[in-house]
Amino acid sequence: MLELTVNLDERSYPIYIGPSILQQTGLLLEHIGDCRPIIITNDTIAPLYLDNVMALLAEVNPLSFIIPDGEQFKSLEWFEKISAFLLENNCGRDTCLIALGGGVVGDLTGFVAACYQRGVPFIQVPTTLLSQVDSSVGGKTAVNHPLGKNMIGAFYQPQAVFIDTESLHTLPTREFAAGMAEVIKYGLIYDTELFRFLENNLKQLKALDEEILQHVIYRCCEIKALIVAEDEKEAGLRALLNLGHTFAHAIEAQMGYGKWLHGEAVATGMVLAAKLAHTRGDLTAQQVTRICDLITRYDLPTNIPENMTSEQFLHHMRKDKKNKKGTIRFILPTKFGQCALVDDVSDQHVRDLIEQ
Ligand code: NAD
Ligand code: GLY
Repeated sequence: MLELTVNLDERSYPIYIGPSILQQTGLLLEHIGDCRPIIITNDTIAPLYLDNVMALLAEVNPLSFIIPDGEQFKSLEWFEKISAFLLENNCGRDTCLIALGGGVVGDLTGFVAACYQRGVPFIQVPTTLLSQVDSSVGGKTAVNHPLGKNMIGAFYQPQAVFIDTESLHTLPTREFAAGMAEVIKYGLIYDTELFRFLENNLKQLKALDEEILQHVIYRCCEIKALIVAEDEKEAGLRALLNLGHTFAHAIEAQMGYGKWLHGEAVATGMVLAAKLAHTRGDLTAQQVTRICDLITRYDLPTNIPENMTSEQFLHHMRKDKKNKKGTIRFILPTKFGQCALVDDVSDQHVRDLIEQ
């Protein structure tokens, strides 16, 4: 088992990574302490893993709440249903919520934990690659609003993150690929060595080789932990984690959430960001090709949706959370393995890029 810490003074917490993490009763119980555990999961993950986690926690009388599977349930409606369940079961401040699932379950559970009785502890048990390398770490919690994704939320850190690498064995391959987009992102914003590692270990990663997988997940969590420790509330540095996301959010919104997986949209968004960086003289054509090749080799898209116009991109990007005073701001590579927030990309520049 590997372990690292997200350093946030009194709110610091450990991340445990390895196979069979969910068999380690003692460790999970240690983090639950004197609290009553309530496991929140969905109806896809429950038949796979819920019994196991309930059994681990049997001595502290856990309860569980199962939501339907889907991004549309990361909503105020389901926030309210979980809150009602907690109230009906007389859950007090000595409650510990356990998010067992992907980013949808993690974001929703974390937001309930942030708000219920003004905050109760919660533990992340991420079961998708995307949630293991990104959403379970760093304390961004949220629900969607009909007018925008993740628009209602809070920064609220978990007590611990338990990453069981074996849970990836039941994850659909398309979801695994979507998680790889976020992994590739870390290589592009921070770590050319990781990027090269992904190029050289593709077969092993796709085959879920335990050692390679642990190494990659550990490195991603380590980078994210460093960034979050430096800039928890996204005043600057943390925004780099949004490489490709400005374009991605536009694709997701235009296509309807769920049609393109978030990671798929991020993959195409990173290609667009790389091409934009090339036109600014910051990446060579060969480097852009290298990025496209890796994304393609991990079974991710590099082309924008057919028929999506530059005006549609601009329309959605004008609502991006990073914008300031009406200016669309992008995270772009400034060289291979390094990125920056830029605010001098004109609408015409975006039109040229999309129409290319
Ligand atoms: P998800 O939670 O919808 O999970 C994807 C699918 O995989 C679902 O059908 C789920 O039921 C299934 N699944 C999960 N684990 C499984 C397993 N081990 N075996 C079989 N099936 C499994 O999607 P996601 O990609 O994990 O997360 C996307 C969400 O995360 C979005 O809502 C996004 O906004 C959010 N997000 C949050 C952050 C953050 O910092 N908080 C970062 C990135 C993304
Ligand atoms: N997923 C981006 C962040 O956590 O900031």
